[in-house]
Amino acid sequence: MPYDTISYSVTDRIATITVNRPDKLNALNHRVIAELGEAIEAARASGEVGGVIVTGAGRAFVAGADITELQSLGAISGKALAERGQSVLRRFETSPKPVIAAVNGFALGGGCELAMSCHVRIASEAAKFGQPEVKLGLLPGYGGTQRLPRLVGKGRALQLLLTGEMIDANEAYRIGLVNKVVPAAELIASATAMLLAMLANGPLALAHCIEAVNSGYDLPLSEALTLEATAFGLLASTDDKREGTRAFLEKRSPAFKGA
Ligand code: COA
Repeated sequence: MPYDTISYSVTDRIATITVNRPDKLNALNHRVIAELGEAIEAARASGEVGGVIVTGAGRAFVAGADITELQSLGAISGKALAERGQSVLRRFETSPKPVIAAVNGFALGGGCELAMSCHVRIASEAAKFGQPEVKLGLLPGYGGTQRLPRLVGKGRALQLLLTGEMIDANEAYRIGLVNKVVPAAELIASATAMLLAMLANGPLALAHCIEAVNSGYDLPLSEALTLEATAFGLLASTDDKREGTRAFLEKRSPAFKGA
């Protein structure tokens, strides 16, 4: 599929989605959001793809929503823009295949929100994070007010949201916004190694872990535990579980088939 503003490639069961508008620091305009939506659907649907890496071309991951497009928004179009972006990012978050953000540079506004919709964030030492929307008289519209407190806690989230300040990768690691910080030159190798470690596991197990965490997170614990037990029972009936347990006892690597 031809893309204008992103690139999409698949190697070794890993789909890499690269936001590719480096002259505008990969700012998310309508086209980028639409193409990110197409790319995550392609990755979710493809039998060749086991997991996804999201990154940016040049010195930014994504420097936010495209501010030139924000200028002309009104109440109705603004809400529609937020809902469209939210629904695309939700497809990353609910992907049954693991999605890792390899944050190479600025992850501001919608860029921080895109990273937060991924399952894991690995940051280059050069990465910078922030939700600077208040500086524009706005608030984050792609999930930032909701996912940031869930990741770093309410107080730290409110500090970032209300100051609009930018933090570096080490501070992002300290507060739990990113999983790991690596030298810039090792970013993609590090994301690839983590994703390959995930992909060595049962694909149905991965999918159900993601779903249990996503669906259980906002439920009362008793309901969330029921959801977990149901998923456990479902996985217990799979060929993959038979293969995984047998392989362990036979002291060999499992050959999972996703069935
Ligand atoms: N929307 C549209 N264009 C953007 C953009 C955005 N969010 N972020 C950067 N750009 C453009 C700049 O306008 C500039 O374009 P130009 O060369 O045609 O003038 C180009 O990308 C390079 O950015 P520049 O500001 O010159 O780089 P810098 O290194 O001086 O600063 C940032 C980098 C990230 C600090 C700065 O670009 C910035 O603050 N961006 C906006 C961040 C933001 O508020 N995001 C949230 C939006 S809701």
